[in-house]
Amino acid sequence: MAIQNCFCTLVLIALGVSLFSSCGGSEKTASGLHEEELSGQEIYLENCASCHGSDGKLGLSGAFDLSTSGLTIEEVKKVLNEGRNGMPPMKEILSSQEQIEKVAEYTIELRK
Ligand code: HEC
Repeated sequence: MAIQNCFCTLVLIALGVSLFSSCGGSEKTASGLHEEELSGQEIYLENCASCHGSDGKLGLSGAFDLSTSGLTIEEVKKVLNEGRNGMPPMKEILSSQEQIEKVAEYTIELRK
C-alpha cells in the first residue's frame, strides 16, 4: 500500500513537471516568433524611446541624441550589445541579433 501511494505521488509529480515545462517552452517560442515580426521602429518605440524619445532627440538622463549620432551600423550594434555608460546593454532585452540589426538600422534612419 505504502509503495503504491509513493508511486502514485511520483507519477503526479512527473505529470506536473512535464506539463509545466511544455507550457513554459511553447510560450517562449510563441513570444519569440512574435518578436521576430516586429519592425525596427516597433522595437525602437518599445525599448529605446523611453530614453531617446520617439524621434531620437529626447536625451533623457544623458541619452545621446540619435539624430546627430555619427556611429556606423557596426558601432551602433556594439553599443546595443555591450551598452556604454548610461546606456544599458540590450542583448538580454532584445531576443536576437536580428532584432539588434533591425533597431540599429532604424536608429540610422532617424538621422535623415
Ligand atoms: C535607460 C535609458 C536608455 C535606453 C532604454 C536606451 N538608451 Fe541608448 N543611450 C542611453 C544613454 C545614456 C546613452 C549615452 C551613452 C554614453 O554617454 O556613452 C545612449 C547612447 C546610445 C547610442 C550611441 C550614440 C552615439 O552616437 O554615440 C546609441 C546608438 C543608442 N543609445 C541606441 C539605443 C537603442 C537602439 C536603444 C533601444 C534598443 C537604446 N539606445 C535604449 C540611454 C538609453
